[in-house]
Amino acid sequence: MAGFLGTVRGRKRSAAVLRSLAEVEVPEVMDHASAFPIAIRKATGARVTDADGNRYLDLTGFFGVALAGHRNPAVATAIRTQAGRLLHGMGDVHPAEVKARLLRLLAARMPAPGYRGLLGLSGADAVEAALKFAAAATGRGAVLAFEGAYHGLSGAALEVTHGRTFREPFRAALSGRGRFAPWPARDGSDLDRCLSAARALARDPANDGPAGAVIVEPIQGRGGIRVPPPGFLAGLAGIAREAGAALVVDEVYTGCGRTGAFLASAAGIRGPDAICLGKALGGGLPISACMMAPGLASAVKGLPSEAPHTGTFLGHPLGAAAAIAVLGEIDRRGLLAAAVRVGDRIRERADAWRRRFPSVADVRGAGAMVGVELARPEVAGRTVEAALRAGVILLTEGPAGDVLAFTPPLTIADADLDRALSAVETALAEAAT
Ligand SMILES: Cc1ncc(COP(=O)(O)O)c(C=O)c1O
Repeated sequence: MAGFLGTVRGRKRSAAVLRSLAEVEVPEVMDHASAFPIAIRKATGARVTDADGNRYLDLTGFFGVALAGHRNPAVATAIRTQAGRLLHGMGDVHPAEVKARLLRLLAARMPAPGYRGLLGLSGADAVEAALKFAAAATGRGAVLAFEGAYHGLSGAALEVTHGRTFREPFRAALSGRGRFAPWPARDGSDLDRCLSAARALARDPANDGPAGAVIVEPIQGRGGIRVPPPGFLAGLAGIAREAGAALVVDEVYTGCGRTGAFLASAAGIRGPDAICLGKALGGGLPISACMMAPGLASAVKGLPSEAPHTGTFLGHPLGAAAAIAVLGEIDRRGLLAAAVRVGDRIRERADAWRRRFPSVADVRGAGAMVGVELARPEVAGRTVEAALRAGVILLTEGPAGDVLAFTPPLTIADADLDRALSAVETALAEAAT
């Protein structure tokens, strides 16, 4: 392990990859001229190596995906075994064997019996499925969502993603079916006001008719690790019921154990109409699931000859095999308990930062999903850059980029986590001055 931190010497190869990308990639995708990005060569557990051979510790899980560790051995073995058998099935015609196994395992982890799943390749796919089925079930396309929400960037998902950056360039493609209610403060001080606003928007604002779906993240992830107060999810469930709308819980970020429970929403609500999973589910392979309660699952009746909602790669065998392995690892390695342990370790350090640095405004989260809000976004940005220079991969969340987001692999060794947090502490001290 020696030498894992502070070994970032040069980034010549990374810079060359960036220059090469700049010539062939759509400019919108990233800032190719920036000196910040590294080109990643390999990753194992929580350790990452870049194209120049520099080594890093990962506190992001690469957008929360590497929950069971980068290139988790059980996941890699499952992929190799599956690759030796079948790379591609015929999703809705001749399914891969593994698809049935995965859906049975997922159904068993739902909060009530009878859930059925529809697999996709991205979080946005799972959200699309939920919102399409909700529209089919209710005959209503309007959706109640929340300020700060992030549900993905494809058609229906973008309609309910709040950020201006994502919506503005594609305004002409938006129908306006998303209605955004305020997100309540964690201390519950404005809970009643926010729920009243949500109720009014779910009913019939401006005579556009009631919403057909209510979509919510149990904790807003990309919105800045924003935790709602107790009672919020239950209140929303009541609002959805009153409005006859489907309640869709987007657990793409929070799900699969990130917060210490398989579903972060399970403590707040018993049986939402749909639960979206993605990110960590495939252990690094692109697979997602929209799990629907029986009523919503049977809302769409397929035509005899064609499935009305499907895709070429539906129930992809490699993704399904990887997801089965991830679910096994969650149990075998006790990753739900690990999420709590890792999260507590991060929070303990972050609470000390709050006492030490006036620039740290808040520490929040659940399990191993921890947000450290800084009073000024530029301090967050500088901290992330300084951490990378010291060998730690860290990212910000929140529309202003002012929240340091900690979502590491849950398999990270205590010593690695402590070293990475010490490097962040130094970076924070440097950035705050
Ligand atoms: C809560 C939530 N939903 C949906 C998505 C979209 O997932 P994907 O980027 O895989 O489409 C994300 C991505 O960050 C997310 O955080």
